[in-house]
Amino acid sequence: MSGAVFEPPLRNPKDIFISDQDCRSFMTNVILQARNLRKEFGGLVAVDDVSLDVAPGTVHSIIGPNGAGKTTLFNLLTGQYKPTRGQVFFKGQDITHVALHRRAHLGMGRSFQITNIFPNLTVLENVRLAAQALNRSQFNFFRRADSFKDLVTRAYEVIELVGLRELALSPATVLPHGGKRKLELAILLVADPELLLLDEPTAGMASEQVPELIKTIDTIRQKGNKTVILVEHNMNVVMNISHRITVMNLGKLLAEGSPAEISADKTVQNVYLGGLYGDAIEGTRHE
Ligand SMILES: Nc1ncnc2c1ncn2[C@@H]1O[C@H](COP(=O)(O)OP(=O)(O)O)[C@@H](O)[C@H]1O
Ligand SMILES: [Mg+2]
Repeated sequence: MSGAVFEPPLRNPKDIFISDQDCRSFMTNVILQARNLRKEFGGLVAVDDVSLDVAPGTVHSIIGPNGAGKTTLFNLLTGQYKPTRGQVFFKGQDITHVALHRRAHLGMGRSFQITNIFPNLTVLENVRLAAQALNRSQFNFFRRADSFKDLVTRAYEVIELVGLRELALSPATVLPHGGKRKLELAILLVADPELLLLDEPTAGMASEQVPELIKTIDTIRQKGNKTVILVEHNMNVVMNISHRITVMNLGKLLAEGSPAEISADKTVQNVYLGGLYGDAIEGTRHE
């Protein structure tokens, strides 16, 4: 599988004690790691001792029924919430207490519930504005590119990546719902994050538009060399795109594995059977 290669920081093993878990994460090439995360809201435990290893260059999905704790876990990974207990590592660095904006600088890009799309501006103008804003905040978004590349060129790159080239000069307001989601992705990609965290990107979309957005996310991963953490409640969506799936239920990690393993998992089936997605279990991975 292709993907960014993560170089662990050099350490002298004689000087520093490296825990088994550290060794495991370095050996298995992990871009993001959650260790024993717990989040309490008053008396309610929304996330209960959840650990997670995300391999670079993959789509790692977090699924589970409504109320399972997916969004809370997402917010713990992005830094929106501080965990009651546990830690989050990004490329080997403990980022548990790193502020949101610092995480963006490190290369973590997250979807926002409210994105500033200006409906009367074109797709290109929207993306260019996002690039300009980053530039002004001295965000070094040209990390892996020629630093003199101009904003329009950069905007076109990400517009191309999300498949909106044909609509680049159309006002954002004419885009179908799926197109607006692509534009949001383009705005997110301007900063060239290595890791994209997306919470239910297909929410509210007409079902016939879902496969195309999923395809776009996979294209971004492959061509843009990104890692994607996808939170979804829809089994069908994740079965077609994920390399690895973490299933949550009642705040706890219920199962983890490949789409084939998760499809065949009896415990997972029990959670979904009889529920909304009982008939959505069959699915195979495209690999
Ligand atoms: N900010 C909050 N304050 C109190 N309870 C919350 C908060 N956010 C989520 N919860 C509760 O935590 C549980 C998990 O919610 P959530 O993470 O949104 O689940 P999911 O995204 O899987 O549907 C639910 O019982 C929910 O009511
Ligand atoms: Mg949610």
